[in-house]
Amino acid sequence: MDDAGVDGRPRDPSLAAADATDPPSGFREQAAASDADVYEAFAAEGPEAWRRAADLLDWETEYETVLDDSDPPFYKWFPGGRLNASVNCVDRHLDERRNQLAIRWFGKRGERRSYTYLDLHREVNALAAGLRDLGVEEDDVVTLYLPMVPELPISMLACARIGAPHNVVFAGLSAEALATRLDAADSSYLVTCDGYYRREDAFNQKSKADNARLRADVDLAATVVVDRLGDALDVSLGADEHGYESLVDAHDGEMVEPVARDATDLLFVMYTSGTTGRPKGVEHATGGYLSHVAWTTQNVLDVRPDDTYWCAADIGWITGHSYGVYGPLSVGTTTILYEGSPDYPDRDRVWDLIERNAVSVFYTSPTAIRSFMKWGAEYPDRHDLSSIRLLGTVGESITPKVWHWYREHVGGGEAPVVDTWWQTETGAIALATLPGIAPMKPGKAGPPLPGIDATVVDEDGEPVEPGEPGYLTIGAPWPGMLRGLREGDERYRREYWVEAEDGWRYRTGDGATVDDDGYITILGRVDDVINVRAHRFTTGELESAIVGVEGVTEAAVVGTEDGDIVAYVTTRSDVEPDESVRAAICEELATAVGEMARADRIVFTPDLPKTRSGKIMRRLLEDITRGEEFGDVSSLRNPEVVGEIESSVRDV
Ligand code: WT7
Repeated sequence: MDDAGVDGRPRDPSLAAADATDPPSGFREQAAASDADVYEAFAAEGPEAWRRAADLLDWETEYETVLDDSDPPFYKWFPGGRLNASVNCVDRHLDERRNQLAIRWFGKRGERRSYTYLDLHREVNALAAGLRDLGVEEDDVVTLYLPMVPELPISMLACARIGAPHNVVFAGLSAEALATRLDAADSSYLVTCDGYYRREDAFNQKSKADNARLRADVDLAATVVVDRLGDALDVSLGADEHGYESLVDAHDGEMVEPVARDATDLLFVMYTSGTTGRPKGVEHATGGYLSHVAWTTQNVLDVRPDDTYWCAADIGWITGHSYGVYGPLSVGTTTILYEGSPDYPDRDRVWDLIERNAVSVFYTSPTAIRSFMKWGAEYPDRHDLSSIRLLGTVGESITPKVWHWYREHVGGGEAPVVDTWWQTETGAIALATLPGIAPMKPGKAGPPLPGIDATVVDEDGEPVEPGEPGYLTIGAPWPGMLRGLREGDERYRREYWVEAEDGWRYRTGDGATVDDDGYITILGRVDDVINVRAHRFTTGELESAIVGVEGVTEAAVVGTEDGDIVAYVTTRSDVEPDESVRAAICEELATAVGEMARADRIVFTPDLPKTRSGKIMRRLLEDITRGEEFGDVSSLRNPEVVGEIESSVRDV
């Protein structure tokens, strides 16, 4: 594979040249993955190579084959195998580390709670027994609508124990979004809470859940309510509603025989924004997902049992599922769960937690790092962060400037910074440098991991030349891949797959370039999905919320490189676009989508740039927003609006 880099396909990344920084030798010596042969081994062995990942797990029944690819693009990983995810994340650690901390939780009000693996085992079992008692059976989907409290991972594991797939809905999403997801997943069980703190205020989550219940078509058979706020908020429980604490108390000490699931059985569903307004229900299977997540936690994030590891992402999204819960617990480490915000009570909160807990591996998003940078290096510099051994980033591209700041001020100039590219659909990391082997290139997501057949192709599916932009695709199946969509096989095939001459290719939806060493640079989404502040939205879902506001006629949203959402809005000619319209838009976005769908800027404009066929030119708006050069606009139906929009953007 020596010179394979020239046709747009990766070559051995350990040979990377020029702009690359070698892994620090101290790191290399102790890294889980330190042998560059792993790339060649995967290339030579094909799917069989992924036995390495499956071997990290405990199987109740050994799988028959690694991969069944007889009916592409419907792939089955480790068919015939049976296992239970909660056993892999909890029970099997009891022999060696029952008294080791599994979760250290830090609440918004300075509260703390710690769970050893033994504690975790006890509560997962009690809750599993409780859920069964409420009627939850194998394959019933349980929806979890909780903030970052220990009850969230515990509920996930309790569901996994009884073979009930979970459907976590980010706590900040609206009642409407919850209702849609309850219906789409056909889920009649819900675990939520009374409320949670946002800054100083107690916020009522239960009333959002109640509201969703009224809107949803499904009938909820039982709801479990965690008491997060104690006396700060009293909620009354209806007939089929149960307090989490009393449920767990009632079943304390009971042990639930874990349900052995087929490797291909559903572990969870996670809704994510797709190219249409309706969210897609991404389904992850138990065996492949857990194998890939465990392998990457060990080999990419280099996490070991004696680490204290912190993934700052919310469990409400895939990063929190894979690397906040299943990854760290499957490898038996101690993981930090942080409910608060990074700047409360002060802007050194994160560094204070890292120092006090001797965090050794820290994984966060470039958006967060940009905020840290803005607040100033004096905050991290004030703390002893020498416990850090590895830093990771995920969710969007990290610019070299931000990368270097992170390495310098958080990593002490020494720790490897691993940029990891993946998606809700890939389940686990797909592109990244293996930190003990491959040199790092700031700003580039990195080469595909061993066994990931990622290629940047042109419109015709041909690999592009190095440096040429194209579409990022994945040619061969990988274990963490989605097993399908809740919306059915047809939608799954149509959304993601193309049949090429050399087989089926998965389309990631990202634009990318590749360099001579096979390192991939992500250029951003090529569809109508925008990634801002580590959340994924469809432009359509935001726009339809905005045009739902009285007096608004049209809207187009774009994401900026700084992670802001900018909304271009036109109003009816008799409606003055004033502060009240602005406020109504903000409110509607929060109600229809969620609190994190805040528009950072709303630009009123008499018209939106359109093609002759009437399609809104969102790309042009992106260029204008970013102050970039744009081409000839004379072919637009309304070229005159471009100048107007440019000047209003500058005025805001
Ligand atoms: C999209 C997936 C699973 C990560 C959390 C987001 C973008 C992800 C990177 C990266 C550049 C990245 C892509 C991808 N993305 N990681 N390291 N560099 N872009 O999961 O919500 O499913 O979004 O996030 O555009 O397609 P998601």
